[in-house]
Amino acid sequence: MNISPHENDFGAAIEGVDLSKALSAEEVSQIRRAWLRYRMVYFPDQPMTHEQLEKFSLAIGSFGDDPYVRAIDGHPHIVEVRREPEEDVPLFGGTWHSDWSFQKTPPNATILHAKIIPPVGGDTHYCDGVRAFSALDSAMQARLEGLHALHSARKPYSHEGVKAGGGDRRSMTLLPSDKALSIQRHPMVRTHPETGEKVLWVNPLYTIGVDGLSEKEGEALLGELFEHMKAPEFIYRHRWRENMLGMWDNRCVMHSAQGGYAGHRRVLHRLTVAGSAPY
Ligand code: SIN
Repeated sequence: MNISPHENDFGAAIEGVDLSKALSAEEVSQIRRAWLRYRMVYFPDQPMTHEQLEKFSLAIGSFGDDPYVRAIDGHPHIVEVRREPEEDVPLFGGTWHSDWSFQKTPPNATILHAKIIPPVGGDTHYCDGVRAFSALDSAMQARLEGLHALHSARKPYSHEGVKAGGGDRRSMTLLPSDKALSIQRHPMVRTHPETGEKVLWVNPLYTIGVDGLSEKEGEALLGELFEHMKAPEFIYRHRWRENMLGMWDNRCVMHSAQGGYAGHRRVLHRLTVAGSAPY
């Protein structure tokens, strides 16, 4: 297996392995080590069936729980991220987020398998929460380590949220629910359970406030952190190719889907790998 990390060690291409076949324990362990170290790994040229994609995902860990979006018929853990050429609703995944951070146990990993990629645009941007945390000054680090944030799916997945996001005009079927109004409390700085690294773990889509702060104070603090996280030194801009499989560590990376491909179709298949409660 050839692992080619990016210059700054955020992101790595992995070649010389066939993900459509059963992987040996050593191959899985090499892939896991690279994923933990480089946070976003991608495998070019990996044509895979739904079943092969599911098997690869299960080699990394058990399936996550994916609410609010209808899965592919017969494959309840694969969601098709699809946008048609004429679609004009907000992008699915277009606001920075960590997948399902409103869950008690958000996913460890997200896997995307590219099926149709437009000739321009449609990249995904990734932000490294470990670098973002370590670049804060020590007073801010100490302050954040004592705080918990409030996460909720209400902005995109409440009935109001889905309506505002053009739900009935979307090619993907979103499943709004009152459950999206519930709130989950998580530490603002989590410790990565496998690497021990400290991660700044808030995101603009699902983090809606800070426990113990007024709405105004919480908004001000979160706004400052979101601005900080967008600094170019924490960001990796990923260009997809058809049949490429990407997998990121959702415990330390947030991401956002980019547009710029009006008039073209974009289709990727997505699975999540179950995780544990952040601490
Ligand atoms: C997602 O947020 O899960 C989708 C990302 C993308 O479409 O690039």
